[in-house]
Amino acid sequence: MDKKSSNVVWHGGTVGRADRERLLGQSGATVWFTGLSGSGKSTIAVGVEASLLGIGRLCYRVDGDNLRHGLNRNLGFSAEDRTENVRRTGEVCRILADAGVIVLASLVSPFRADRDAVRALHDEWGIPFLEVLVDVPLEVAESRDPKGLYRRARAGEIKDFTGIHQAYERPTSPELVIQSHLSNPDASAAAVVTLLRDRSVVHTQG
Ligand code: ADX
Repeated sequence: MDKKSSNVVWHGGTVGRADRERLLGQSGATVWFTGLSGSGKSTIAVGVEASLLGIGRLCYRVDGDNLRHGLNRNLGFSAEDRTENVRRTGEVCRILADAGVIVLASLVSPFRADRDAVRALHDEWGIPFLEVLVDVPLEVAESRDPKGLYRRARAGEIKDFTGIHQAYERPTSPELVIQSHLSNPDASAAAVVTLLRDRSVVHTQG
């Protein structure tokens, strides 16, 4: 997005991420769950959150649906609005992770370039970004239809629905792929915690 504000200067402080991380005894990072509506992203994130809290890690869930009630309430589901939705949310994740928090973001985020931009933002700041594809066939997501949205999209009551009217672009090299229809939420959450240990975001046993 074009930058409209000019004559603004970054104001640094005397306390950095390393100081905050030392205080908290953990490293900030963003885990970004992407996948179709109904794939299980939010359910898995809730499980990861409980597991991490259980071993004394501070984490925070950033859920696409939830942010659309506030920060992103002026955005819809056109390709342009999704790009802005992902951009804003990526910035929020970056800020929280810079604060030392393990961020669990769940967004459909259907476009590869938008997700890659969030990854680039994290790279720029030296913050780990772990992309988790929650991968289910469209038929499975549609048969679950927890919110009845697929049915309404098929009936023409909702437009721009991912997987029906709009594409879902799979990540080319995600850090983890979870096939939620071949697993259960606890095992899926455990796989994410293992990833966090492997990447040294979570250091302790427990
Ligand atoms: S994103 O594509 O911009 O990342 P986000 O994750 O914030 O989407 O919101 C997706 C959620 O909004 C879905 O889980 C679903 O509940 C709801 N939703 C409503 N309309 C649509 C639509 N047209 N396409 C996809 N999801 C929709």
